[in-house]
Amino acid sequence: MTKRIGILTGGGDAPGLNAVIRSVVLTAYNAFGWEVVGIRQGFDGLLAGTPVMTLSPHNAYDLLARGGTVLGAVNRGNPFMRPVVQPDGTQIMVDAAQDVITRMHELNLDAMIAAGGAGTMAAALRLVELGARIVGVPKTIDNDLSATDVTFGFDTAVVTATEALDKLQTTAESHHRVMVLEVMGRDAGWIALTTGVAGGADAILVPEIPFDINIVCDKILALQEAGRRYSLVVVAEGAHPIDGEQEYIFHGDPMSQARLGGIGYLVGNAIADCLEAEVRVTRLGHVQRGGQPTPRDRWLATRFGSAAVHFVAQERWGHMVALRGTKLIAAPMQDAAKINRVNPDGEMVRMARHLGIVFG
Ligand code: F6P
Repeated sequence: MTKRIGILTGGGDAPGLNAVIRSVVLTAYNAFGWEVVGIRQGFDGLLAGTPVMTLSPHNAYDLLARGGTVLGAVNRGNPFMRPVVQPDGTQIMVDAAQDVITRMHELNLDAMIAAGGAGTMAAALRLVELGARIVGVPKTIDNDLSATDVTFGFDTAVVTATEALDKLQTTAESHHRVMVLEVMGRDAGWIALTTGVAGGADAILVPEIPFDINIVCDKILALQEAGRRYSLVVVAEGAHPIDGEQEYIFHGDPMSQARLGGIGYLVGNAIADCLEAEVRVTRLGHVQRGGQPTPRDRWLATRFGSAAVHFVAQERWGHMVALRGTKLIAAPMQDAAKINRVNPDGEMVRMARHLGIVFG
């Protein structure tokens, strides 16, 4: 009997999601003779009855190099805590988990592959506990999941951020300026650390090492005195001073997650206050999440997608694909909640310090 599996993408997008969709479709059709349908707008779309997208090797073939996700992604709210307005005008939260399962039956889905971050995996696991047949594919540009050594999207984000830092270097050198580059990563400093080392930063500020701005200023001053008249500072969006809090653009509400951002400007102003130097700040933002995935991310996403189909064949419900060393393994979905952060005493930070980079 031909199986029919669904695939959805949840949470924020990441370069490589379309390569996962393509790999799932090609593997399902070629290796197993299964049909694949795309669920638009994640679990929200499933609940809303949004028409599905029929996927075939023909229409999925050219997805490999395309950024974003053709299925759409939603990172607001929680499909199992949906606000419903009562006749008296009050709002209550309703658990719609059973509706998701009913909808999967209506679509004749034998199984589903959910690609997403910690929120999507938590939702998928809850459905598995209620009897749904779901396997997961983890994604985040932040590379902050303990369960897997690497996530696709991270390499693309680092390439984009490093290109930006390289470009800032040439203009910084011409104008004798201090350039501050703020990058994404939430509460983990992987994008900042990797970009900073790859792009020759003089200071890297990460959430895992609360910083003292005087140390950054002393470093820049020492460089100036030694004859180097420009400096590069990379700041993770989640970095914060020793005696201060993280900076938010939006503090969050029951429907939307809080959004970090703006620490780069505080760092830039503080440097301008303590040094005789012209400072400019660039907040890279979503540029790092968009665009074509790098070959490395296409490769990883393709491996993850193909492995997910094999996990469906093996009925590994409640598990997600993960990379350990060179091998793909099935990790329990609950492991998506375990965050991997930069080790302040680890080899990478130590090496960076030995290069002369300061962490504040
Ligand atoms: O988790 C990925 C990420 O890009 C973070 O690095 C960033 O803090 C967040 O998502 C931005 O979310 P949004 O797209 O909702 O602004």
